[in-house]
Amino acid sequence: MAYTVPKLKEFSPAALEKAAEKLLSALEAEASAVQDEAAYKTFRDHWMGRKNGVLTQLNDLWLKAAPKDAKRDAGQRVNQLKGRVEQAIDATLQRLQGGASDARLAAERVDITLPGNQRKIGAEHPVIKTMHEIISVFRNLGYSVEEGPVIESDYYNFEALNFPPNHPARDTQDTLFIANQDAKPARERLLLRTHTSPVQIRTMEKLAPPLRIVIPGKVHRNDPPDASHSPMFHQIEGLAVDTDITFGDLKGTIDHAMKALFGSSVKTHFRPSFFPFTEPSAEVMVSCFICGGSGKRGSEPCRPCKQSGWIEILGCGMVDPNVFEFVKHNGYDPKKVSGFAFGMGIDRVAILKYGVDDIQLFFQGDVRFLQQFR
Ligand code: PHE
Repeated sequence: MAYTVPKLKEFSPAALEKAAEKLLSALEAEASAVQDEAAYKTFRDHWMGRKNGVLTQLNDLWLKAAPKDAKRDAGQRVNQLKGRVEQAIDATLQRLQGGASDARLAAERVDITLPGNQRKIGAEHPVIKTMHEIISVFRNLGYSVEEGPVIESDYYNFEALNFPPNHPARDTQDTLFIANQDAKPARERLLLRTHTSPVQIRTMEKLAPPLRIVIPGKVHRNDPPDASHSPMFHQIEGLAVDTDITFGDLKGTIDHAMKALFGSSVKTHFRPSFFPFTEPSAEVMVSCFICGGSGKRGSEPCRPCKQSGWIEILGCGMVDPNVFEFVKHNGYDPKKVSGFAFGMGIDRVAILKYGVDDIQLFFQGDVRFLQQFR
């Protein structure tokens, strides 16, 4: 029951004291019963409401009604009580707000002993992993890494690499050209580079000899996708230029690299080949590290090497002097320097290393496939 201000019959100090005590204990009881904002408002209005609140009534019933000789006393009392009521209302409000922020703090508390959300760590893609392995083999030989653009000009992709004007690779049958460039001179036409070899030229324009670099990256060819072809794949190129570089250096370097990659027991075999930018050129075969070169796995035929005991792994050769002519101004005088270059498909190496039977799996982004390489 809310407190109501009684009419006083007596105004003696003792009577005032008694009435004040009752009021204060009612105030305390009502204040402590307040538990939410709505109750607080009712409580506040009951005590301080201008029209009919307890304080207003005190004025009328205790002060104005007091006889003359008791006015002073009654006035002091009422003033004191006003102060106590205001205090009680303030304190109640603070208790409510404090309680709310306590509740909020409790709700937001972070339990630092909980295990937390684990973020799964990704894994290197098998092609990138293979690329890094190949790079590290050459890094250990003192090679550094260079890169170049995937969208390349005819000049870097073909012309400066000594491709004749009507070489079939320059046809849209084999190469993906950017559309609507007929107005441009041939050498400026843009295409998706078909090999990493244009970065040979770009690097020789930038750095004077001696040079030992590897060039990893994406390349594109106009091939329909199947189990062993993808219109986008990866290559890594190598280039070494110095005075007196010989075919023997090329053979020794490649033989070492193949043993480092596939195991020390593999053999290498160089077979004559042709590339416009190397002369002489060779294809390198590595003895099959799956069947050990026998062509058989038990009584079954070895599939990776098609029973031949050899796997073709890269193209290479001595840098053609015609190529040096394009960068002669930067110290590559074909009479003074010589060099070798090689290029290999990274995806193919990854296929062999991991026993993957379809190159498409590398590029489909199926996590069930990729998770196997964690
Ligand atoms: N660029 C050649 C290719 O894509 C490979 C190669 C590179 C051959 C360097 C010789 C020297 O087939």
